[in-house]
Amino acid sequence: MSELSKPYETIKIEREQSIVWITLNRPHRLNAFNDILMEELAEALDTVENDPSVRCVIITGEGDRAFSAGADITAFPKATPVTAEEFSRKGQKVFSKIEEMSKPVIAAINGYALGGGLELALACDFRIASEHAELGNPEINLGIIPGWGGTQRLVRIVGLRNAKRLVMLGERIKADEALQMGLVDKVVPFEKLREEAKALAQKLCEGPPIALKYAKHALNFGSQVPLDVGLRLEATLMALLFSTQDIKRGIEAFMSRRKPEFKGE
Ligand code: COA
Repeated sequence: MSELSKPYETIKIEREQSIVWITLNRPHRLNAFNDILMEELAEALDTVENDPSVRCVIITGEGDRAFSAGADITAFPKATPVTAEEFSRKGQKVFSKIEEMSKPVIAAINGYALGGGLELALACDFRIASEHAELGNPEINLGIIPGWGGTQRLVRIVGLRNAKRLVMLGERIKADEALQMGLVDKVVPFEKLREEAKALAQKLCEGPPIALKYAKHALNFGSQVPLDVGLRLEATLMALLFSTQDIKRGIEAFMSRRKPEFKGE
């Protein structure tokens, strides 16, 4: 049995050619994260990262109600400061795997993306939401703050003003407002969500995998360092691509006016 066909308890894995779908699968809890879900997601992310035949990943939630309603609140009453810090770091590390992954990751937001659910989507490269989706970081209403990257990634994506509104007021916003805010890239009817996510994934699968990996790296990490350092990183990564076969394929295809077929070599 390949690693990807292993049975999981809280996620589902489906393969469509070079695309892998990871579906959060605890619909009775609105796909809220318990420890098992976090561990299984981490394992699935490692598996897809290490499988060169996978070119793009789509993360979604089971059902039509929730992408994920965040951390499983039922575990909170037993937490201590020490376990809470570990819980926060663990989630941060798992979501960082998405940001550090060498392939593009799309969040197909099929309903509520709240708390950790939104934080998961924020770590992805692209976010497509269904029309009925609602997004937010409501942790403040529980007397806490986001702990899986929300305060950090949200501000980088939507700016300080919008991030303060979501994190400090705990407001839940609808998909169309999330689109205006730049929190999601596209809003589509629920029935079209899978199709749209797949079309985007297919487009990414046709791109040059090594250049996509370096583009993601330059964008994600270059934006965290001083401009001078980011520019050096960009130049080095761009130059490295001149050692690939795909640049030759890209240039030849351009010269002969046909579509390039990139192979990730
Ligand atoms: N953790 C644990 N269980 C959760 C959950 C979470 N984050 N979010 C929802 N659930 C459970 C509910 O307790 C309920 O379980 P039950 O049927 O056994 O009572 C089930 O999922 C369905 O949720 P429910 O609240 O009945 O649905 P709703 O349509 O009335 O409200 C939400 C939906 C998302 C608005 C509401 O569930 C909610 O606010 N969830 C918490 C979101 C949150 O604060 N996330 C951040 C956590 S740090």
